Amino acid sequence: MKVLVLGSGGREHALAWKIGQSSLLSKLYIAPGNAGTLEHGENVAIDPENFQQVAEFAIEKNIEIIVVGPEGPLVKGIHNYFSSNPELSSITIIGPKKEGAILEGSKDFSKKFMAANNIPTAKYKSFDVDSIADGEAYLETMTPPYVLKADGLAAGKGVLIVDSLKKAKKELRSMLANKKFGSASKKVVVEEFLDGIEVSVFIITDGNSYKILPEAKDYKRIGEGDTGLNTGGMGAISPVPFANREFMDKVENQIIIPTIKGLRKENIEYSGFIFFGLILVKGDPYVIEYNCRLGDPETEVILPRLKSDLLDLFDGIASDTLSERDVEIDPKSAGTVMLVSGGYPEDYKKGEAITIGNIHERSIVFHAGTKKENEKVITNGGRVISVTSYGKDIESSIKNSYSTIENIHFNKMNFRRDIGKDVIKK
Ligand code: AMP
Ligand code: GLY
Repeated sequence: MKVLVLGSGGREHALAWKIGQSSLLSKLYIAPGNAGTLEHGENVAIDPENFQQVAEFAIEKNIEIIVVGPEGPLVKGIHNYFSSNPELSSITIIGPKKEGAILEGSKDFSKKFMAANNIPTAKYKSFDVDSIADGEAYLETMTPPYVLKADGLAAGKGVLIVDSLKKAKKELRSMLANKKFGSASKKVVVEEFLDGIEVSVFIITDGNSYKILPEAKDYKRIGEGDTGLNTGGMGAISPVPFANREFMDKVENQIIIPTIKGLRKENIEYSGFIFFGLILVKGDPYVIEYNCRLGDPETEVILPRLKSDLLDLFDGIASDTLSERDVEIDPKSAGTVMLVSGGYPEDYKKGEAITIGNIHERSIVFHAGTKKENEKVITNGGRVISVTSYGKDIESSIKNSYSTIENIHFNKMNFRRDIGKDVIKK
C-alpha cells in the first residue's frame, strides 16, 4: 500500500515508524515531516491544510491511504474534500469528516452531544456576546475554581481555570466581547470544575466497530510538579496504573459505546481515531474533551505498545472490516520525555544544532520540531525530540529515557525530570 502521513510532530514520526514496520507497505510519504520521519519514508514539502496540493500529490503518486495526524485539516474538512471528488473518493482518509471532527472543533457541540447521549461530563452552560449577563449570573451559582472554555480551536490555549469569581467574570467578558481567542471564543462554555486524575483513552473506529488502543497519561505543564504554563505535552506514560480492568469497563460502557451509538444516531459517519480526554472522579470516568486524532506525545507511548500491524487496522477501515482485525497490546511499559527549546511554550529560538550520541537499547528517539539542513539536524520548533523507552514498569522505562537524554544535546535544551513520578509506587 502507498501511504501518506500528514503532519510534522513527534506523533507523525511515531506513525511513520510504526507504519514503516508493516509488510503491507510499499511506499511511505510524510508531508511535511521532520528529520526523523526521513528514516522511514520520503518527506514532501506540502502544507497539510492545502487540500488541493495534497490531492494533486495523492493522484500523482497513487496514494491509497492518507493518515491525518493533526486536527486542523480534519476540522477544516479534508475528508469531505476527498470524498466529494470522484477522482479522490477511492482514497481512504484516516480521520473523520468535518461533521465528526466537530467533536473536537466545537466544545459547545461536544457538550450538547454528551448531554443528548447521557455521557458523563461536567455540568455546563454556553454563552455568546448577547448573553454575557446570563453567563455572569451562572458563574455566581458555581463554586471556585471556574472553568471557561473557548468553543473553537485555540491552539490548546482556550481553556481557562480561574480561582476568583471577579476574574472569571472579567475573562468571560474578554473572551466574548473582546474576542480574546478570536472567532474561537465567539461562544464560551462555562462548566463545573472536576477534581480528579486525568487519563487519555484512544480508539480506532470505522463508525460501527471499534478497537481500544493502549491508554496514556500526559504531562501538560512546563514545570516539574505540574507547575507553570500549559504546553502541548512534556511527556507521557502508558499503561496508566489506575486505568485497571474495572475502570476501563466503565469507560467502555459509559463513554465509548454511547459515543459510537450517538454518532450513528446523529448520522455522523466517523472513521479514524477518537481520543477521549477523561478524568477519574471518585471512581467514575467523566469526559473532559474529545479529540478527533491521536495525542502528542501520547502517540509516542501508545504505538510502541501496539503489537498489531497499524496498516492492517487502516486497511480494516478502508474495507469496512475493522471488526475482523486484531489489536494486540504489549504488556511492557513505555514512557516518553519531551526535550523542548529553552523559552517554550513562550518565545524560543529555532535553528540550534542537535547532537544525538548513544541511545539506550530500549529507547526510541522520536523527532518533533527538527529538520535536516546541509546534512545537519537542527531544532525547528518548541517541542524538539520525544525520547521513548520500554521498561518492565513505568519507573524503568522513564529511567531508560533519562539515560538516553544524557547523550542528546542542543543549546538551551529543557525537559522535565519528573515524568511518571506521580504514578510510581513509593
Ligand atoms: P481541554 O483543552 O478541554 O483538554 O482542557 C485543558 C485542560 O484543562 C484539561 O486537560 C484539564 O486539565 C483542564 N480541564 C478542562 N476542563 C476541566 C474541568 N471541567 N475540570 C477540571 N479541569 C478541567
Ligand atoms: N497531548 C495532548 C494532545 O495531543 O491534545
